[in-house]
Amino acid sequence: MSLKSINPTSTTAWKNLHKHFESIKDKHMTTWFEKNPSRVSEMSIKWDDFFVDFSKNRITSETLDLLKDLADEVQLTDAISKYFGGEKINKTEGRAVLHTALRAPKNAKVFYDGENVIPEIFQVKNKIKHFSEDVISGNKKGFTNKSFTDIVNIGIGGSDLGPAMVVDALSFYKNHLNVHFVSNVDGDHVNEVLKKLNPETTLFVIVSKTFTTQETLSNATTIKEWFLQHAKQEDIAKQFVAVSTNIEKVEAFGIDNQNIFPMWDWVGGRFSLWSAVGLSISLAVGYKNFETLLSGAHKMDIHFKEAKFEQNIPVLLAFLSIWYNNFFKAESEAIIPYTQYLNQFATYLQQAIMESNGKSIDREGNKVNYQTGNLIWGEPGTNSQHAFFQLIHQGTKLIPADFIGFGTSLHGNQDHQDKLMSNFFAQTEALLNGKTKAEVIDEGTNESIIPYKIFEGNRPTNTILIEKLTPESLGKLIAMYEHKIFVQGIVWNVFSYDQFGVELGKQLAGKILKEFTENSDAKHDASTSNLIALYKSMR
Ligand code: F6P
Repeated sequence: MSLKSINPTSTTAWKNLHKHFESIKDKHMTTWFEKNPSRVSEMSIKWDDFFVDFSKNRITSETLDLLKDLADEVQLTDAISKYFGGEKINKTEGRAVLHTALRAPKNAKVFYDGENVIPEIFQVKNKIKHFSEDVISGNKKGFTNKSFTDIVNIGIGGSDLGPAMVVDALSFYKNHLNVHFVSNVDGDHVNEVLKKLNPETTLFVIVSKTFTTQETLSNATTIKEWFLQHAKQEDIAKQFVAVSTNIEKVEAFGIDNQNIFPMWDWVGGRFSLWSAVGLSISLAVGYKNFETLLSGAHKMDIHFKEAKFEQNIPVLLAFLSIWYNNFFKAESEAIIPYTQYLNQFATYLQQAIMESNGKSIDREGNKVNYQTGNLIWGEPGTNSQHAFFQLIHQGTKLIPADFIGFGTSLHGNQDHQDKLMSNFFAQTEALLNGKTKAEVIDEGTNESIIPYKIFEGNRPTNTILIEKLTPESLGKLIAMYEHKIFVQGIVWNVFSYDQFGVELGKQLAGKILKEFTENSDAKHDASTSNLIALYKSMR
């Protein structure tokens, strides 16, 4: 059974939320803090090693009740059971959405088309385990009988962003292997990576769910040619492996059948790091850490499946996001991790969130009459404080932000950690309270610049405070956002698991590519024709 189609704006809850919005939109959060001493305990969730404080939001308990009514009216509970139950909720592609099965325990049973997928998942996991252990220990050797020193992940989008983000995020837990990522079809990218490599000691992991992606196949071909300048055709089997659903195409590329790590069509690319797409993660940090990452995600799955909506972290984060997007008309959301390890986290979430919910057709095929997917951006603090925070504090736009911080640093430099975290708390405090005219005057500010020094405050933030960045907590954090995406897609009544929007550009690029070298009477708009001609004169 597929997902129900309910226009959220037709619900009673939506209408009530509108009325409620009108009554609170101009209120300052600080007044609610003053009036209600238990606001923080009412608006925070302690779960495992996570503490999520959402009290610094422009909401009252009534807002939360109404958002919960909305979830009930769009039948969120029913949708969650279809999501975990392997139903084909990705209707436009006729597929289930089962990345959650990838992190389920061995004794779980998850049925897809009448078959339990868990044994198959564990077969592949076993293959990942043994392969990673052999490479890391040095037992597996390259064509000149040397152990591997470098790994290159060749993939793009979901076949790159997830593994690249996690390998970077877990670099504290890394072994001796240097892991590189080649994604862009820009030949300068692959060449910059190749120049650091020794063909005798580098293992290449080609990751492509479809094995038809132009960027990945071009990079893989260039790398294979480079490799063959140093080695023989039969050596490819020793140094190239692939992760894909398309076994035929992988074999046609010349990869040995034994070197193929399968995946399944019920794993979406942007949710695939838990599958063999995460092979480079397992190589970088060892299989045990990879498994712990998965078990962290599984804990979040259980929390999402079982916690009441009012205590459910992904559900609440989704509610808040909808509140700002559809009622306050906020267009973007910032994600600010206070750890350099999560440097690539916002980039990773851009694909996960924007490719999923950047849709404008509802589940009945009609154009939506409300806003859907939000813009996602962010950079780690404190760097971002010195870059774009000015606009968040004093600009004209409302930008809800998630602040993600950790109780301990990994290298244990307490002085740095305290400075980092004092900034973490200070920013959300400043965004909440702002600074009044009286305070600015009290500081003895020159009269002419008083208005410039006033901060309105009342800028919403969520604080996600986690004990420590570990493979497990990272797994939980990623899964938390995955489920937030799901909830938003349900409420917005869109199909979150297809990505037809990326196709048109790909098709046109294919046509334009031929025009560079062949005579063509292809028709373009005047601007594009002129630009293509100009490029042809430069190339
Ligand atoms: O950008 C579109 C997309 O299909 C993504 O959804 C996907 O993650 C990426 O391309 C790569 O696809 P593949 O893994 O099939 O090479």
